[in-house]
Amino acid sequence: MKKYVVILMLCLLGFGFNVLVEPDPNDPVFIPPSPQREGNPDSGYQYIVTGDYVNSGLPTFLYKLGFGRAKDLLKRDGKNAGIRHDFNVVNAPNGEEIVVPNCLQCHAQVFDDRLIIGLGNANADFTSARGFDSNLLEGLLSSYMKLNKKKAEAAKEFLDVGRVIGGQIYTSVRGVNPADRLAAILIAHRDKNTLLWSDSSNTELPEEVIPSDVPAWWLLKKKNAMFYSGFGRGDFGRFLMGAILLTVNDTAHANRVNEHMDDVLAYIKNLEPPKYPFPVDSVKAKEGKLVYEMRCSKCHGFYGDYSSYPNYLIPQQVIGTDSLLNKSNYQYSDMIEWFNTSWFSKGDNPAKLVPFDGYIAPPLDGVWITAPYLHNGSVPTIEALLDSKLRPVYWSRNFSKTEYDYEKLGWIYKVEEKPGPRNIYNTTLPGYGNYGHNFGDKLTEKERSALIEYLKTL
Ligand code: HEC
Ligand code: HEC
Repeated sequence: MKKYVVILMLCLLGFGFNVLVEPDPNDPVFIPPSPQREGNPDSGYQYIVTGDYVNSGLPTFLYKLGFGRAKDLLKRDGKNAGIRHDFNVVNAPNGEEIVVPNCLQCHAQVFDDRLIIGLGNANADFTSARGFDSNLLEGLLSSYMKLNKKKAEAAKEFLDVGRVIGGQIYTSVRGVNPADRLAAILIAHRDKNTLLWSDSSNTELPEEVIPSDVPAWWLLKKKNAMFYSGFGRGDFGRFLMGAILLTVNDTAHANRVNEHMDDVLAYIKNLEPPKYPFPVDSVKAKEGKLVYEMRCSKCHGFYGDYSSYPNYLIPQQVIGTDSLLNKSNYQYSDMIEWFNTSWFSKGDNPAKLVPFDGYIAPPLDGVWITAPYLHNGSVPTIEALLDSKLRPVYWSRNFSKTEYDYEKLGWIYKVEEKPGPRNIYNTTLPGYGNYGHNFGDKLTEKERSALIEYLKTL
């Protein structure tokens, strides 16, 4: 008799246990850490702003024609002296001196007259109407190149790739970035083992140019996965060198660049966010901290003396923000397959892509300065992020001068009645939606205002 009771109890326990471990599809998903390389931050910085990771480009004289009067905000010396901060002067494989774009094209921004390295560039213009006449450039180049074979050779890869990607990476509004689309196109045209370029595409490509707001570099030190959808797993260094796909012409070059990625990662991990530059009301911020810890810390972690970050992916049905970016990872499984069997997935420090139906809850360090908000930069201020009825459908702002709202935390913006030219953000376009993340809606005015005061201190 007793034996049966014990068996019955075990069954019940087992049943109960099963119910307990049944995963709830709304639960956050923990991202496990993966081993990373250690390096030297100073060497990493030098490599970013002088290195030849992009190794095909235009002769210096042509650069000067376009940007001749720009200053070098990095105050570099040697051959980079006087060249704009987001370009490097390097030698092409044939020895020819060329000017190439560097990481700071997208990963630095002038904010209140100061260059902030690591802040995503929210002023870049990737719309088709940015006043850049590619026919004129192409004409100039082809006549010049006919005269000089070595310069033509040094520019070949850059121009070949440029011709194919040119019309395919336009965003609909200014300030958002097409890097995900750029990566997809480069992957589609390169051999996964040799990385060699071919003018025809070898995989099915996403149609849309999905916009993203470049994330700040100083957040990476806390994260176990890279990118908004958290699909960048394994060795981060391999992802950091993604920009080489623009012009890489053999795996020997890829291997050489790869050797610097430990240092580049060390530099990125060493960056600290800029401090909020005005006084903070400490009593109010203390109240805000309590609101934060009740409502937000479960996903975004704790700050200050007991700092911790949970590393969670939040399922799409819970976060509810525009899903186009994470969905594209599933739709184009060719791209995932390419990466996960390519040069990037081989060797001592392999990387891989793991798609997820949702987004990573980012660390909020320095969040006061990283406007606009959400992965697609669709919300101009933190105030509007925390009160969804304030989010404008169409809005515009100044792109040539920093007009920042240090109280609402974000861009000073104008609500527009209808969509219009490229400087008007249009949240009704696919991928540009401003819905979801409604976790601030239920707060009282007083709680929200205290919470914003606290967010200034992170
Ligand atoms: C054309 C613009 C562009 C260039 C050039 C560029 N990036 Fe990025 N980078 C992006 C965008 C956009 C994202 C976010 C993509 C996403 O998450 O979907 C990103 C993401 C990152 C991240 C991930 C941050 C995180 O927290 O997940 C790192 C680190 C990074 N880039 C480093 C680099 C380095 C190093 C270089 C130069 C070798 C570089 N990037 C060149 C646009 C660019
Ligand atoms: C259930 C988890 C969760 C909760 C709770 C939550 N967030 Fe978030 N938060 C996220 C995710 C995921 C994102 C990224 C969404 C996206 O980009 O589409 C995000 C994005 C943000 C951003 C934008 C960051 C940027 O640079 O674009 C801010 C700011 C933010 N949250 C603040 C808060 C505050 C303040 C609270 C508390 C009221 C809060 N969040 C509650 C998960 C959460």
